Amino acid sequence: MPFSVAADATRPAEPGSIDFEFRYQQLLYNLDPDRPFEGDFEKFKSEYQERQLRNNQTRIIDADAPPLTAEDETSQLLELRSVLYQAPRYSTPTYFLDPHLAVISWNVAFELIFRPILPAIRRHHVNYFIVELANQDEVIDHAREFTDKVKDGQLPLVDLEPLVYESPDYGRVEFMKVATQLTDGNAHLKAWSVSLLLKKIDWTLYKRDLEEHLRKDRLWGLYAVSYDAILRGFRPYQELVQDVISALPSPPSRILELGAGTGNVTQRLLERNYNVVAVENNPYMLEKMAAKGLRSSPKLTVMLESVENTEFDNRRNFDAAVAVNVAYALEDPLSCFRKVAAALKQGGIFALSTTHSNTNLDALLGAIKADLEVRAKFPEYREHYERLVSVNRAIEKSIAKRYSLEQYKEWLMDAGFQIAHSEPKYYDAVEVIQACKT
Ligand SMILES: C[S@@+](CC[C@H](N)C(=O)[O-])C[C@H]1O[C@@H](n2cnc3c(N)ncnc32)[C@H](O)[C@@H]1O
Repeated sequence: MPFSVAADATRPAEPGSIDFEFRYQQLLYNLDPDRPFEGDFEKFKSEYQERQLRNNQTRIIDADAPPLTAEDETSQLLELRSVLYQAPRYSTPTYFLDPHLAVISWNVAFELIFRPILPAIRRHHVNYFIVELANQDEVIDHAREFTDKVKDGQLPLVDLEPLVYESPDYGRVEFMKVATQLTDGNAHLKAWSVSLLLKKIDWTLYKRDLEEHLRKDRLWGLYAVSYDAILRGFRPYQELVQDVISALPSPPSRILELGAGTGNVTQRLLERNYNVVAVENNPYMLEKMAAKGLRSSPKLTVMLESVENTEFDNRRNFDAAVAVNVAYALEDPLSCFRKVAAALKQGGIFALSTTHSNTNLDALLGAIKADLEVRAKFPEYREHYERLVSVNRAIEKSIAKRYSLEQYKEWLMDAGFQIAHSEPKYYDAVEVIQACKT
């Protein structure tokens, strides 16, 4: 039976639904008295569905490729296992608790939203997180009920509840918390994964920032694959590291290292018997460091953290700080330099090298290639070299040149340092700066 939209106002139709389309057609015809609509809904529906199917098929890219066989699917899933551990890093805001409910880790999206409170919750019981929430009263009540269940011997396998956080960056943020037990092969609880499904946030700002942070994280992750393959054999890089650390006081002393990466500088510092606290926020870089066996050294403490969100030891007991090719990556260099100054003893040295607005990477990238060719390594390392070039070009475009050399020096002085020495190095790709805390 034909009907008009106006005549059937009691049945609202969702835009985009078949019902909606049908009524829209009717409305169009009914507005034109010369062309009364004669169709019936069932006929319209089947024609509409056929049309949609045809449209969708032309839109499916590679529609000609045959579907995977069940065997293909199984073998691809097996292959996926070796990389799937990366996925939670890029999913919805998520943090991880140990079996005693201490916050032990989080992913990129969580770090972005909860940036202001990270130092207060890191390695602390989850209650330190709860008291930062706008609906903490309800959450505390819920936590009591949870504890009662645990006392009754019924540890919940999953736990859902609403959370609300007032973010200075993204306004009022509302989540549905989904906490799930992570158990080992013996069914023993190893950790809780707590995903926060986003219901409300300033999506425009969050989307922009999330995209940027995820992209950077991936970029450093890809760089980690080729960093050592290319640079460890490149003598000018070794000389740069040597130049930067030559300003440090004699060992043994405590050194704070920013952006430790795969641990090339760290390794040199440990070999010289320094005690090192290394801060690095990319887990793939740290995997490479771990493969070198450095992390078992009792003289090394590694913090998987962003320099911006780390509370350095503020007891002024570091003798020196070092940052090889990292400062350009910092979102707020002045505040980081201030933190470094606060962590250093009087007269402490801050030795760094960084790109700046006048940097040109062409000479350096050309020299790396020439060096591989002279050592007859280019064919073997081509893929690594190409990755290094593409990552460096992306970094050059987005972050390597964003601050000028004068700006770095000004920030250092504002933070309480005196510039003792400054010199271009490494095919003029970076400036090596030695600063002294006044
Ligand atoms: C070019 S690599 C240098 C690594 C090491 N210093 C070296 O010379 O071999 C820069 C490193 O800084 C790290 N990084 C970038 N931004 C960071 C931040 N905000 N906090 C901590 N590490 C950061 C990157 O993940 C990367 O490992």
